[in-house]
Amino acid sequence: MKEKTKLILCLGSSCYSRGNQYVLEIVKQYIKDHNLKDEVDFRGQLCTGNCSHGPVMKINDVKHENVDINNIQKILDQYFSK
Ligand code: FES
Repeated sequence: MKEKTKLILCLGSSCYSRGNQYVLEIVKQYIKDHNLKDEVDFRGQLCTGNCSHGPVMKINDVKHENVDINNIQKILDQYFSK
């Protein structure tokens, strides 16, 4: 079985208030629209001390910084567009 892609979105107060509250909804919708529920392990995490580069999202072990509603789609497409 293929290993799931790990999406970890920072939900610490800094990242959350600076955009991850919206990114969260976009990622959830993206997973739904692309039928990725079985391929993705999506979870939130608390602050990891990278607020100054935030909002932050980790995909597998790659850290994406300054994630926002304008670039999240493109980032996800890099991993999931077929
Ligand atoms: S709140 Fe996200 S790294 Fe601190």
